[in-house]
Amino acid sequence: MSTDKKAFYLTTPIYYVNDAPHIGHAYTTVAGDVLTRWHRQKGESVWFLTGTDEHGQKVMRTADASGVAPQDWVDRLVADAWKPNWEALNIANDDFIRTTEVRHTERVQKFLQSLKDSGHIYSGKYEGPYCVGCEEFKLPGDLIDSNGEKLCPIHSKPIELVNEENWFFRLSDFAQPLLDHYKKNPEACQPESARNEVVSFLEGGVSDLSISRSTFDWGIPVPWDKKQVVYVWFDALLNYATAVGLTDDPDSEGGKKFAATWPADVHLVGKDILRFHAVIWPAMLMAAGIDIPKKVFAHGWLLVAGEKMSKSKLTGIAPSDITTHFGVDAFRYYFLRAIPFGSDGSFSWEDMSARYTSELANDFGNLASRLAAMIEKYCDGILPAVSSDEVLKSALAATVEKADFAMCALDFQGGINAIMEYCKRVNGYVTEKEPWILAKDPANKKELEEVLYNTAESLRALAVLLHPVMPATCEILWESLGAQEKLGVIANQKISDVATWGQLPAGARVKKTPVLFPRLETNA
Ligand code: ME8
Ligand code: MG
Repeated sequence: MSTDKKAFYLTTPIYYVNDAPHIGHAYTTVAGDVLTRWHRQKGESVWFLTGTDEHGQKVMRTADASGVAPQDWVDRLVADAWKPNWEALNIANDDFIRTTEVRHTERVQKFLQSLKDSGHIYSGKYEGPYCVGCEEFKLPGDLIDSNGEKLCPIHSKPIELVNEENWFFRLSDFAQPLLDHYKKNPEACQPESARNEVVSFLEGGVSDLSISRSTFDWGIPVPWDKKQVVYVWFDALLNYATAVGLTDDPDSEGGKKFAATWPADVHLVGKDILRFHAVIWPAMLMAAGIDIPKKVFAHGWLLVAGEKMSKSKLTGIAPSDITTHFGVDAFRYYFLRAIPFGSDGSFSWEDMSARYTSELANDFGNLASRLAAMIEKYCDGILPAVSSDEVLKSALAATVEKADFAMCALDFQGGINAIMEYCKRVNGYVTEKEPWILAKDPANKKELEEVLYNTAESLRALAVLLHPVMPATCEILWESLGAQEKLGVIANQKISDVATWGQLPAGARVKKTPVLFPRLETNA
């Protein structure tokens, strides 16, 4: 397959199934969904992968603590909590990988064997601290001291000492090639703060990595040493490539899929797992002679009381706690709009309520319902003749350019702001033209119809531009504008065509629809 046909391939982390998802997981996955929907609307072929990380001590111990076999535990959580959560949030992933699936475990074993055969793996002894929360071997300098006890700085929990005979990966061989790579390709690790962290970590020197464990058995057996299981991160990172056919024969279906997707365009991760993705993962691929991902983007944390929201600290807020009050689309909108992607942010009911009311209900929702009501009242529900307004038209062209640039750079806040600025502008246009005054004198009929058409056409553009962020709401608006008959389904509207003015046909039937963003219940 030629490279220009390669899909835009985006992944989220595969999440641990030690518990149900919280809004931190939803933050990453919604961002991935918005970006892949945007790229689909750019007319690109897209592949969007998410999934679950099911091996390792953390998952095994939570299953044990509940008295359930690990496989039953993960099966249940994936089916009852994770998959329904993504469906509820309208996530359009193309695939969902679970690390206990045979397609994954077999390919991991094949990959590992090839690294062993090519001399990148040797046997040795590991002695040192380990955080089960991170599933990570720590350096003494990583830890914080609490009354003489060593704690993991992310989980604030005591580390454990590991002392085992293990298999090691020659990670140190790749420190210099990785440094050269990030210096030459600054876009490969973003934002800049993340790249700086990775570069200084690499400059500090990197040790070889223990990639197997012998003291428990919830993992993929090391193919040449069945007493050991593969270290959970070595297993998990490979999901991005096993899911699209890594190690399959190039002529097979898996091999063709691999050629059509790899290398990944974006690995979206939280900053907690940056080093795994920007150091260990590309080193594993380099060792195997496989192209490394084009970009790792590490976003910030959602904080609770100044600390990372987490399953293990029981500070997680379930997405449904928010969506039952604000709706799914406001949830998808809020975090990307409110927090610069890459920075930490806190969730607050007050801020979310304020933005919901001013930006979604007033600026966007009201504009849509006013327009439909006026077309019904003044034009019997039929869209008047095509017209144009030079100011709106050029503002729209600038908006599309700005939004597209920002979205493709993962500046979701900048992209959404640009679109919502245009929405404000259209509101200003309606306020200034006062169609309800024009309607009082039949002599103004033409001008009235122009104002209504231009407003409808602006809403057509807003529906398309906001569709990746708020798909269900924008589908309702599309329906309301009577756009589908002439223009087809909203998901097929191209970003590059949005600024072409005059697409809604005269004579379209404009319908009032349910209010897009209902007034919030005040007692919540
Ligand atoms: O690390 N704020 O899984 P995990 C923002 N299985 N994002 C958050 C967040 C928060 N408070 N909490 C979680 C793992 N996330 C591994 C990944 S990938 C090969 C293996 C999001 O369940 C964010 O994307 O701990 C973070 O990196 C990820 O969930 C960690 O999920
Ligand atoms: Mg975690």
